[in-house]
Amino acid sequence: RTIEWAPEDARKEGYDHYMLKEIHEQPHALERTLQGRLDAEAGTPTLDFPPGAFADAERVHLVGCGTSNYAAEYGATLLRRWGVEAQALLASEYTGAAPRVDGDTLVVAVTQSGETADTLSALRFAAERGARTLAVTNVVGSTAARECDDAMFIRAGPEIGVAASKTFSSQVASLVLLAATLVRDGEGAPGEEVRDTLRALADLPDQVATVLDGTTARSVAERYAGRESYFFIGRGLAYPVAMEGALKFKEISYEHAEGFPAGELKHGPLALVTEHTPVIAVFAGRHDEKTLNNVQEVQARGAPVIAVAGERADAVRRQADETLAVPDTHPNLAGLLANVQLQLVAYHVSKLLDRAIDKPRNLAKSVTVE
Ligand code: G6P
Repeated sequence: RTIEWAPEDARKEGYDHYMLKEIHEQPHALERTLQGRLDAEAGTPTLDFPPGAFADAERVHLVGCGTSNYAAEYGATLLRRWGVEAQALLASEYTGAAPRVDGDTLVVAVTQSGETADTLSALRFAAERGARTLAVTNVVGSTAARECDDAMFIRAGPEIGVAASKTFSSQVASLVLLAATLVRDGEGAPGEEVRDTLRALADLPDQVATVLDGTTARSVAERYAGRESYFFIGRGLAYPVAMEGALKFKEISYEHAEGFPAGELKHGPLALVTEHTPVIAVFAGRHDEKTLNNVQEVQARGAPVIAVAGERADAVRRQADETLAVPDTHPNLAGLLANVQLQLVAYHVSKLLDRAIDKPRNLAKSVTVE
């Protein structure tokens, strides 16, 4: 008797899909991302860049596509909070309408593969104008890593699923470290918030494991799979997470999903909200009251609300129809834990709908045309 197995199944290590395996690899991937790059007690970054390495950077552009663009948006929002002039820009729009880019500009290419054509074009455009370039990438030896002045590797390990999962977490964690490094090299000393964030960052791998162990995403998926549309909302740092949640959901479930900044709902998208459109609201522990107002607005139109929020967010739990809880952390990192719940909701809905989760139709892992 022979045992039938495909080499591919062996590599899935018992998981039904690479994506689920990669979602579960996040605690380990994050440990590697942070390894040796953080003094957790002092709350300071210990990246390989010597003090003053970024002293000349007057402004930062973070360019990327897809999931990497949302990681870039997260990094840019954090940098601005910390007083650094920073913008996330879609790589595909950069060469057509870049803001001022010159020798005082640091251009950070956020790209898992390091091969995305739009991102490489943006990088070359910036380099021609004298900008300093830095690749934040998963692939050593990739074109972005080779062409940039510097590279920072996110060390997430190979990702087979077309839809990015663990690499988003490692990108954001890398950008948090980079942001703290830029603050170190800027004017004025890093404040308590930077140190608190970095101290909390050290606990992130374990907290992601806690989310994975305790999640009820599957029962949420069972309750809400097959609805008309799904809306994802968030504010501040929860906004790029909501966008990434919607992207993941549409990529693998083929269901209509859109992300919005929570405050923009009332300026248009609210017209689409009915009892058939679940709203997934991401709470990161800052601006929660305002987002709760938006939750009430959609509930008044009959929409069920699934909140993703910290364990102690009692007001959120009382208001929402369902809550996916995450361990309490610094508000600058809560979105990363919420994102894991969103990945799992997208995964379980797609599985119930019997989609090709690891290889969604029409999509490629790395897009090498503009
Ligand atoms: C493709 C992939 C996405 C990815 C994007 C950017 O569209 O399907 O998952 O986010 O490219 O890829 P990169 O390798 O530059 O991060």
